[in-house]
This record gives sequence, C-alpha cells and structure tokens, in this order.
Amino acid sequence: MKPILSSKSAPLSGSIKVPGDKSISHRALMFGAMAVGETKIIGLLEGEDVLCTAAAMRSLGADVERHDDGSWTVTGRGVGGFSEPSGVLDMGNSGTAARLLMGVLATQPFTTFMTGDASLCSRPMERVMGPLRPMGSSFVSRTKGRMPLAIQGCESPMPIEYELPVASAQVKSAILLAGLNAPGQTIVVEPNPTRDHSEKMLTHFGAQVRVEEKDNGARVITLTGQPELIARDVVVPTDPSSAAFPIVAALITPGSKIKVEAVGMNPLRTGLITTLIDMGGKITKSNVRIEAGEEVADLEVEYSQLHGVTVPASRAPSMIDEYPVLSVAAAFAKGTTHMEGLAELRVKESDRLAVVAESLKACGVDYIEGKDSLSVTGTGQPALGGGEIQSRLDHRIAMTFIVLGMASQKPVKIDDGSPIDTSFPGFADLMNGMGAKIS
Ligand code: S3P
Repeated sequence: MKPILSSKSAPLSGSIKVPGDKSISHRALMFGAMAVGETKIIGLLEGEDVLCTAAAMRSLGADVERHDDGSWTVTGRGVGGFSEPSGVLDMGNSGTAARLLMGVLATQPFTTFMTGDASLCSRPMERVMGPLRPMGSSFVSRTKGRMPLAIQGCESPMPIEYELPVASAQVKSAILLAGLNAPGQTIVVEPNPTRDHSEKMLTHFGAQVRVEEKDNGARVITLTGQPELIARDVVVPTDPSSAAFPIVAALITPGSKIKVEAVGMNPLRTGLITTLIDMGGKITKSNVRIEAGEEVADLEVEYSQLHGVTVPASRAPSMIDEYPVLSVAAAFAKGTTHMEGLAELRVKESDRLAVVAESLKACGVDYIEGKDSLSVTGTGQPALGGGEIQSRLDHRIAMTFIVLGMASQKPVKIDDGSPIDTSFPGFADLMNGMGAKIS
C-alpha cells in the first residue's frame, strides 16, 4: 500500500511529455514477437502492464531486450512459432495483455495457463472465449469465465466471421490475432468503431487487413490469415489516456497554462478532448504530424471556466478510459454533465461507475449514478474534496482523485497509489514538477 495525499496545487506551468501509449506498447511487443526478424521499439511504456506482456513474450520463446538508451528490441518467432510456456503466465492487472494473448494462443497448438491479480481475475473473459471456440480452441476457466484459465490452442484453426456484441477493441484484437494463424479470411464487424491500433500495426508489419466503413458507421475488418509478419521499427506515441490527467488538472487549477507534447491523436481515442472543448476548455492543438502511422500533436491547455454538457453514448468507445477524470472536470464545471452508454465501465479494472460515484460522494460532489449513465453537477466553484478514496487496484481511479485534490477546497487522500505504475510510472513527480502538491 502506498498512501497518497493530494493538496491544493500552485498554478500548473511547463511543458511535459507523458509516457508511451499502453495499447500500442502491448501490441508492439506481441506483433514483434510474431514477426520474423528484429523489431526495434522506441518510446515503449515501461509500466507494469506492458512489462507483463514482455515477460509473457519471453516465456513463449521470443527474445525481448531493453537497451541502455531506453529502446527495446524483440526478435520474433514467426506467426505460428511460439513454444509452450513451462509455467503460468501472469498478466498482472492487464486486461489488454490477457485478452489479446488469449487470441494469439487460441491458435497455437499447445496449452497455456494464465492468471492475474485480484482485479483481473474478477473481469469477464467469456467475451473472448466465446468467439474463439468456433475457431477450434477450448478453454477451462473458473466459474463465470473468470481467470485463472487454461487455453487449449488448436492445431488446425478455422477462420470466423464475428459481429462484436460489445464495443471492445480487446475482443476485436483477440479475434484478429487468432486469425493470424488460421487459413483464409477472418472477419470482424464492429457496429460502433473502437481503437484501431491492431489493424494499423498489423498492416505496418505486412499483414493484409482491409477495413470497410459502412454508411451506418459500422466497420468491417477482414484479415487474410497466415501472413509472414516482417519485423518493423515502431515509434510509440504518448498515451492520450495518460495525457488526460494533466490536461484536466490544468483546466481546473486556476492560473494554469501547460503544454503536453506529442500526444497520440488517433481519432478513435480523442473523445475526451472533443468533450472538454465542448465544455469550454481552452485546448489548442499544434504541430500535428504522423508518427509510425498514428496522428500526434502538441496540446496547449489553459485554466478554463467549464460548463456542463451531454456526452452521447456513441462517443463512449473513443474515451472509454477517460470517464473517471471527465467526472472531475464535470465536478468543477457549472451545471450538469450527463454521460451515457457507460455499461462497459462496470467491467474495467474496478466497477468504475460505482467507484467514481462513491469517490465523488466522499468529495462532496453532487451526482446521480444510473445503470449505465452518470450525471455530475458542479457550481463552477472548486469541489469540496476532503475524501478518503479507495483506489481498488485501479490506476485511473487513483490518478483521477489526485487530480481532484489538486484544485478542491480540502486535500484528498488515496489509500493506495501503487496501481499508478501499471500505466503511468512517474506520475506524481511529473505533476509536482509543474506545481502540484502530491505527497
Ligand atoms: C484497450 C481497449 C479498451 C480499453 C483498454 C485498452 C486496448 O478495453 O479500456 O484500456 O488496448 O485494446 P475494451 O476493449 O474492454 O473496451
């Protein structure tokens, strides 16, 4: 346990760069491990979640190394070339690592055992096992499809066509990764598009991926199986989901003006920025460029008087990890911010809808929690704060309420800040360097 106290911050200033994108970092290691040759990765997120993926790739036979200059290299085994791990793979806190790897291992001809921490072992895995069974693989899990579980990969996988019942990039990616080792075409239909890092990076590594956009906004993704993936260099952009914390902190802390450099601006990840600008947030984008196929920009953020807005359910996939910190922006805004389509928040690292609600309550914020919605009402003045927050093995809950404490009337205590290292090592130092008082 690592207790944290977040007290009123000085106006934030300075230019910062947040760590590498978590989604892209996992994929760079996995795809590098399935490619032929040596993949060099620059800007890899060295958070605990991603280190679990690196360790798993080593257990499967890939050579993964970190160099003194901070770059990483992965020498891959080819698409069907992994070997059976002798021990249990521990995926820690990471749903992305677990679910994407379940896809990879579903079509490798051996058995893998997988576990994780208490949070991961309470999350639903049937959403991945369901579509992978018709490809030929089988699974043994705890009741209700919970981890630990065993993946019995198949020798002669079948490609499938699958329409996603929930908007999930992890489920989409698991199926595409399983399809890599199946003959023919694996097709995933997503009615409401989710982050497309897998599609982009598979193309970067030489796979044939066709993405068709329908008139109703749905996407049909077709992967041609059994490609030879060729090692490629990957430059990881910084994580917009991590940038979200200093951005909201600057918007609610009077007198702040900061620059967040090289933020990943993949259009399927920018729902929070759209929402904060709608709320009156002064956020200016400059130096827009493409790095390793992903859009990147510098963002200048200034303290702003925010107002409440309605955030439509259709925007949820593009900001799914950002609702906790949006609830803090909403607590400082004038009026009500109504967020819809939040059912998926209930199955994240914690039940984020319930935990955000209980934490807002502890900080004297007015809210209504629905089954899959949240309304937060602010007065345009600083929230009361003073709460004692339980982070419940959830990095984003810990960072969200540290941000609230930076601008609230009373300091906020977090029972355990250690989960922050899963996605944002160095968070407190980076924020303190701009003027925060996090101890
Ligand atoms: C991720 C997808 C999202 C997101 C998670 C990372 C990914 O999960 O919440 O942090 O890298 O594919 P879901 O697929 O469950 O929505």
